[in-house]
Amino acid sequence: MKKYLLSLCVAVTCLSNGALRADVAAGQTAYAARGCIGCHGVGGVSAVEANPTLKGRDAAFIRQNLTDYRSGARKHPVMNAMAAGLSDADIDNIADYIDSLK
Ligand code: HEC
Repeated sequence: MKKYLLSLCVAVTCLSNGALRADVAAGQTAYAARGCIGCHGVGGVSAVEANPTLKGRDAAFIRQNLTDYRSGARKHPVMNAMAAGLSDADIDNIADYIDSLK
């Protein structure tokens, strides 16, 4: 039984590591496909002062702010429109991608 539990834990750890990598890859794809890259730059480094650089921010910050733009709790016409089309999974994936750039 102990042995069984141990291999179950190993399997779960492997699965969740795999999921994390998939989130980063999906986030990178979404970041480009959804047009974020046009304003926030390649690798999250913005070339335009008006658009904040996202590289260096952690996943919790990105998740919170995208959720707030989507709900309207944080107001900015462009970002409210950009976030409106994001699913919870998009937000999680993009947050993990930005976090991975640190
Ligand atoms: C047309 C340009 C433009 C596009 C496209 C765009 N953004 Fe933004 N983004 C901005 C601007 C400008 C701000 C600053 C808004 C403010 O002052 O609240 C911002 C703010 C943010 C912030 C908060 C950063 C901070 O330091 O507070 C996040 C996170 C963010 N954008 C993520 C995204 C993601 C993810 C996408 C793609 C779905 C995206 N943005 C698309 C222009 C853009």
